[in-house]
Amino acid sequence: MRVFVIGATGALGRCVLSELLAHSHAVLGLARSQDQAALLRGWGVQAIPGDLLAPGTYQHALEGVDAVCNLASAVPPRPADRALWQMNDLILRQGTQGLLNATRRMGIRRVVQQSTDEVYLPQGATWLGEDAPLAPAPEAAAARDAEEAVLESGIPCAILRAGRYYGAGSRWTELLGQRLREGAFETVHSGEHWVSPVHLFDMAQAVRLALESESAQGIFNVCDDAPTTLRDLYGSLAATTGAALRTQPTPPRRSGWRLSNRRLREKLGFVPYCPTALGAVADLLGTSACEAT
Ligand SMILES: NC(=O)c1ccc[n+]([C@@H]2O[C@H](COP(=O)([O-])OP(=O)(O)OC[C@H]3O[C@@H](n4cnc5c(N)ncnc54)[C@H](OP(=O)(O)O)[C@@H]3O)[C@@H](O)[C@H]2O)c1
Repeated sequence: MRVFVIGATGALGRCVLSELLAHSHAVLGLARSQDQAALLRGWGVQAIPGDLLAPGTYQHALEGVDAVCNLASAVPPRPADRALWQMNDLILRQGTQGLLNATRRMGIRRVVQQSTDEVYLPQGATWLGEDAPLAPAPEAAAARDAEEAVLESGIPCAILRAGRYYGAGSRWTELLGQRLREGAFETVHSGEHWVSPVHLFDMAQAVRLALESESAQGIFNVCDDAPTTLRDLYGSLAATTGAALRTQPTPPRRSGWRLSNRRLREKLGFVPYCPTALGAVADLLGTSACEAT
């Protein structure tokens, strides 16, 4: 299969490239600079100079492509500042729409779109399947709009609603590394907040399965087998690393998301390389990353 990847240079994109190449797919990646283009070429990927916000820059490269995978985002370094989300919103709304128009024009028959579990209503310990009620926070509203645009495009598609990424280069892992150097992990909202971790290798696996399978149509949650609370995860990290655990005395504000990956397992044969983050995050911070097969 010949796959065009947008967001190829990101933390997730790099894992996706490697997963696709390891499974003998031909891969093209969008690159916004000469340096990034050289990086992609070095990995065996055909670099397409361009920008998602300017479809004219990449449309020619869609000729002969079997599938498109959109992983682009621009989450700001200070996520709490809503004003900084404008570029991310633009990429998800305008960028995705431009990509869909170009994809349709070129007759491409498959799109895989990255999304997030934050489009769901947070329900704490309640398991969330793909039909769970939606209530995107302002930061996730553009991701939901991108989902709708893809679903309504008429192009066969899979939407991957991911839990929280960890792995080399992911923001969460970098944050936890920083906390470890400072000597303490800190929970938010009393630690009662649920997270559904997914190693970047496993998100890359899910992307590949969604690209390869004809039955990958619609929405799929992507996470490991063991969603957990921050209190349990950070408590285990603290115990393993010798760092302290600080729990905020504030009452829970948002209860987080406990995702079920059942549909992904049953329909696409997903088996996570890293079934639980409990040991894997500690390994990642202290020693080695979870091994992908
Ligand atoms: N963290 C989570 O738990 C989680 C869960 C679900 C979804 N997500 C989403 O996934 C993202 C994480 O992915 P990541 O770690 O791979 O992010 P990342 O490392 O920040 O990569 C973002 C990618 O998007 C590309 N991009 C940005 N603007 C573009 C444009 N105008 N045209 C073309 N490409 C553009 C970037 O290219 P450049 O290299 O040129 O900047 C880069 O390749 C988050 O930002 C979030 O939106 C996160």
